[in-house]
This record gives sequence, C-alpha cells and structure tokens, in this order.
Amino acid sequence: MPRGVARPLLAWFARAGRDLPWRRSRDPYRVWVSEIMLQQTQVERVKDFFVRFLAAFPDVHSLAAANEHDVLRLWEGLGYYRRARQLHAAARIVVAEHAGTFPRTAAGLRSLPGIGRYTAGAIASIALDLPEPIVEANSRRVIARLAGHAGRLDGPGGDEPIWEIAKALVPRKNPGRFNQAIMDLGALVCTPDRPLCNACPLAGLCAAHAAGRVSEIPAKAARPAMKKLRETAVVVRRRGRVLVTRRRAGEWWAGLWDFPRLRGKAAQPGAMAAAKTLEPFSCGPPRRLGRISHTVTNHKITLDVVECVAARAGRSEPDRIWVSPAKLAGLAMTSPGRRIARMIENEIAAGPSSAGRRNRDSL
Ligand code: ADE
Repeated sequence: MPRGVARPLLAWFARAGRDLPWRRSRDPYRVWVSEIMLQQTQVERVKDFFVRFLAAFPDVHSLAAANEHDVLRLWEGLGYYRRARQLHAAARIVVAEHAGTFPRTAAGLRSLPGIGRYTAGAIASIALDLPEPIVEANSRRVIARLAGHAGRLDGPGGDEPIWEIAKALVPRKNPGRFNQAIMDLGALVCTPDRPLCNACPLAGLCAAHAAGRVSEIPAKAARPAMKKLRETAVVVRRRGRVLVTRRRAGEWWAGLWDFPRLRGKAAQPGAMAAAKTLEPFSCGPPRRLGRISHTVTNHKITLDVVECVAARAGRSEPDRIWVSPAKLAGLAMTSPGRRIARMIENEIAAGPSSAGRRNRDSL
C-alpha cells in the first residue's frame, strides 16, 4: 500500500487543480448536483449545464418545488435523464423528510434516489469533510497504477480491491480535497494513454511506474460490441402543427418528447399507412427530410427522417400532442428529436419554396 500520498498530492492540487464552477462552495446541494451531472458526463460538458441549473434552481427548496418537465428541460443535452428524475425526487425527499437538510453521513446520503456509493462518498468527503473514499473513472486508474493492481476491473466486484485501497488512502484531514485531487490527477496527468509521469507528484510512490507497467495498468476492459439499428422518425403535420409523443417508462429517454418512430428504413407509403403508431392519422405519402446518426448506450442508430401530412388529428392523449413548431423549443426533447426540431425550424426559415412546395397546406 503506498504511503505518504496525501502531502505531495495536496501540494500538487493547490498548484494545478482545476478551477471548476462547483468548487467555489462546499454547499452540499451544489456538490450533489455537480456529482450527479458528473456521473456519466465529462467535466467540460457539465460546466455550463451546472451554472444554468444552479441559476434556475439555486437550492434544494427551489428544485423540490419545480415541476419535472422544467427539470428535464434544463437537463436536455446531458443525457441519462433518469439522473434528473432521481435528483428531483431526492430534492423532494430532502425537503419533505429532512427539513431541507442533507443527511450528514454517507449511509444516510445513500438512502436518497440516485445516490450510490461513489456519489455518497463524494458528497460526504467534499461537503461534509468525512473521510469517505470515492472510486470513479479517473481515481480508479490512478489508484490501480499507484498500487500496481493489474487485475481486470470490469465485471461484478472488479472494483472492490480499488475501493479497499481508496478507503485506506483517504486522509482524515482534507478528505474532500484529497478525493478531488486524485480525480484531477487522473484527468490531467495520469491519463489513460501517454500519462505524464514526469510531471506526476506521485511518480516516486507509484508501483506501476516502478515496474514500467503504466501502459498495462489498469487492464483494458472488454468493450461491448456496437449494434446497428435502423429507424424512421416521422414528422406528422396537420394545420401548421406537428405531432410529438412522449417516450414511455422503460424506453430510452423515458419522459422526453420525440417524433413518432417506426422500425426500419425510410418508410414507404404502404408501410406508413400500415404502421400502428400512425394509424389514427391517415397520413399521406412520406417526403424525405434527411438522415441523422446517433448513439445510445451500445446502439448506433441511423434515423431516416420523413414528413407527411395527416388527414385526421386522432384522439388527444397526454403523451401524444399536436404543437406548433415554435412551441418545440419549450419541450424537453430527446437529442435526435431536438435535431429534427431544428431541421423543421430551418425549413420554415427557408420559406415555402423549400418545405412548403409539396406540403403547402401543412405549414
Ligand atoms: N468527476 C466526478 N466528480 C468530480 C469532481 N468533483 N471534480 C472533477 N471531476 C469529477
């Protein structure tokens, strides 16, 4: 077990640590919001979202009082929307059951939705000054190299030895700074490829460095194979409005708005008429608008985008609504849905000579 890590690491952090918007205060609410955003999203991307989110919801009370749609709208673009729903649910619990104060222990924090071992450790150490360990992508790599742990880290329990080492390393004094320093060292110096060992304050304590095995540790995880999918998004138009549907629980992007989708390539007239999703609307022939590629988890999706004009409005339902294109900006949409909304806006901006030529009645 490497000893004497804290002193050189904290000295390095004071000099080279990142100036990040959530580090300007140790308010547990701010630390919590930032850590939830950082769970699956890169630091650079989180910065602006964090600032905007805090401007809209500056404390746990304002977040608890918000409606879920407004929370999702601000989360749009960050992905993994379950995080936003759980954040919102947890804020309501903190207000209703803890009088607006966050639990003061890692175990108490873990009782809230969306807070697992890592996030509880991060909030407990950074905001509450408790000597709790954290293991996330950057610290995992730093600790594995420091301890010379060459075993595979993926798979169930693969991280356990790293958690044990992290627990032994975290100091009683400045645990939050220590944990943030490990993460920064991983992000800036102890990088996955071509780490800057010459600039590392821990090089003299690092087992992987001593053994010349930095490039082999940690062992590379097996990447899941990417699956290809082909889908069609349909912009159904009627009397100046477009049809949007809300993704159901259990689907990707549950709770967000999207354009109706069909399986397979750009739908042919017959296929469109036969599609159950579009049955109530008696759609006319499809016209191609474009194609979008996007990735969700391990799926690479090629999405053909077509539009058609509906003869009927269908029954109105809470999760299937007609909106004017100008209203799309106020809806929390899936990322491909937002790209399609932009396509429509651009068409409208280009005037009837482009979009309206074939569907003049629809715009
Ligand atoms: N990644 C996750 N949490 C982080 C934090 N607090 N600072 C920098 N990177 C992080």
